[in-house]
Amino acid sequence: MAISRESEGGKWVLMTTAQTPTNIAVIKYWGKRDEALILPVNDSISVTLDPSHLCTITTVAVSPDFEKDRMWLNRKEISLSGARYQNCLREIRSRANDVEDKEKGIKIAKKDWEKLHVHIDSYNNFPTAAGLASSAAGFACLVFALANLMNVKEDHSQLSAIARQGSGSACRSLYGGFVKWSMGKEKDGSDSLAIQLADEKHWDDLVIIIAVVSSRQKETSSTSGMRETVETSLLLQHRAKEVVPKRVLAMEEAIQNRDFVSFAQLTCNDSNQFHAVCLDTSPPIFYMNDTSHRIISLVEKWNHSEGEPQVAYTFDAGPNSVLIARNRKTAVSLLQRLLFQFPPNPETELNSYVLGDKTILQDA
Ligand code: DP6
Repeated sequence: MAISRESEGGKWVLMTTAQTPTNIAVIKYWGKRDEALILPVNDSISVTLDPSHLCTITTVAVSPDFEKDRMWLNRKEISLSGARYQNCLREIRSRANDVEDKEKGIKIAKKDWEKLHVHIDSYNNFPTAAGLASSAAGFACLVFALANLMNVKEDHSQLSAIARQGSGSACRSLYGGFVKWSMGKEKDGSDSLAIQLADEKHWDDLVIIIAVVSSRQKETSSTSGMRETVETSLLLQHRAKEVVPKRVLAMEEAIQNRDFVSFAQLTCNDSNQFHAVCLDTSPPIFYMNDTSHRIISLVEKWNHSEGEPQVAYTFDAGPNSVLIARNRKTAVSLLQRLLFQFPPNPETELNSYVLGDKTILQDA
């Protein structure tokens, strides 16, 4: 975390910048039991990516000259009036502490934070139009940067419960490595937060390749898609109550033991069940397309011919494929196969490959 504090003339501006990577769920979050607080119907587990590939960089600034809270996303001003932004700002402000910079002669008392306004400048180091998850990194980074600016003392887990109120999956981006979002039991959501299962060094053989199958924005957002699923899918109830609790335990064990065979089977099965639940929604939601299905076939055939999994696949709320290779040698072979069968071509849907290694949350 780099903190730069600047004073210009008599007026001062205090700034801090944070960088937060996105995460990819290997056991999916899909469905809320409380829409306002963003409380899920099941636990989920994810891998945090390397920030040099897919991340959000956010600078937050405070000054007595700012007349209202404002935010720019990828250099365009956006409204902060939505409940998700307002909840994050309110929760962080209520935990703010005294801040003093003796060198610059700046002193902000705890009670002053209620009156001071912030400016937020956020951008993604990947094209937003690429259809890759950006809200996870975005809200995690916003909360992390504001907490630093306002000298909030809460640890990453407590901050994750605030980021969760911006976007559910964001809570998992507060940590690197492998992360579990524990659904919690409390009505107020205080125990619905992220826990680090293993840090980024624990299993560093894994290589993640993302095949950007379509750069179009998805037709059904995660938020409205999961609302429709909760309202109409019977399969979701079975998944949340019977399947995921056992799968989460098995996945935790696979991660601890670096057991790629179990890890890959659980990851692929969970992605397929998540998309089955989308199909079980009325009207059905189709996130994957023909290219996604052909990539699944390629991986399944390859894994079968090798006698055990070499690569795991998982798809979020869109057709882009996240492929996890068991080591670098397999990743090279995977990329060769992908480039041969799905050459990047502006005339086809598949247009690029993005590398992402798992890593810890990094300071800017
Ligand atoms: C398929 O976190 O984007 O990526 O909480 O409504 O903002 P909201 O949804 P969001 O949903 C992510 C869904 C997913 C699975 C996952 O990341 O676990």
